[in-house]
Amino acid sequence: MTIYFNNGVYADKETMKVSIDDRGYYFGDGVYEVVKVYDGKLYTAEEHFTRFLQSAKKIRLDLPYTIEEFTEIAKKLAVDNGIVEGHVYIQATRGAAPRMHNFPGEDVVPMITAYAIHNPRPLSKIKEGVAVKTTDDIRWLRCDIKSLNLLGNVLAKQEAYEAGCAEAVFVRDGIVTEGSSSNMFGVKDGILYTHPATNLILNGITRRVVLKLCAKHSIGVMEEPFTLEQFNEMDELFLTSTTSEITPIVSVDGKPVGEGVPGRVTERLQQVFEETIH
Ligand code: PDD
Repeated sequence: MTIYFNNGVYADKETMKVSIDDRGYYFGDGVYEVVKVYDGKLYTAEEHFTRFLQSAKKIRLDLPYTIEEFTEIAKKLAVDNGIVEGHVYIQATRGAAPRMHNFPGEDVVPMITAYAIHNPRPLSKIKEGVAVKTTDDIRWLRCDIKSLNLLGNVLAKQEAYEAGCAEAVFVRDGIVTEGSSSNMFGVKDGILYTHPATNLILNGITRRVVLKLCAKHSIGVMEEPFTLEQFNEMDELFLTSTTSEITPIVSVDGKPVGEGVPGRVTERLQQVFEETIH
């Protein structure tokens, strides 16, 4: 039995009830987080729940819990479900009300649901790398919000999968922004390049860990927009996310990156990242 969290109640998934009028269902009107569990413990929980509250604030949604309370909920789900390696998913919607675009009245409370699930680390992808496909970034201009509204991401990921690729790389006005569910990094002449944390990308927690590791280990970083042409000429490429960690990219649109194998700087970052998780 998997224990879920539903607005203060911990219970079996089958007994959970969410209204057909939920605004998450109608409009994708809500926000979410994915927090990794390593060795039975939450990884970078404070950063995730800080961003969760920030995302909620950006869509003018008041959440009834603090960072500490969300952390306790996530911990309890991980422990009660016996999760050693996996993740906690948590989402909040603006609640249930008859379908109207404008916000419902004050009496409507957010719907918060969460669960913890076993999810092993994708070790072979982390070691061998993945292929990616570039695609137009057709999303809205508030990609900094971790919104439930993921249609642009869903369509891009499916396009990548159908091309035999693990991830889609968004390109907006000739600039590489991020992946459909990850951040993008390139290495050229030993310097790391990644899109700055603007409204055009989600400022990933894994991205922030990587930038901190670069500072600690004296790897030069340029947080500057780079073009698709520059992306295609990088010596190394990798993507980051909570579940993918640091995954090397070994081909873009069918063309090999560098020698077509994970690069030296990427492997070094993977090594020091590994030290942060155990
Ligand atoms: N996705 N950019 C986008 C669009 C994302 O959806 C994600 C994460 C990231 C990386 O963020 P982080 O390092 O904080 O996980 C970047 C999650 C994992 C998901 O939707 O499942």
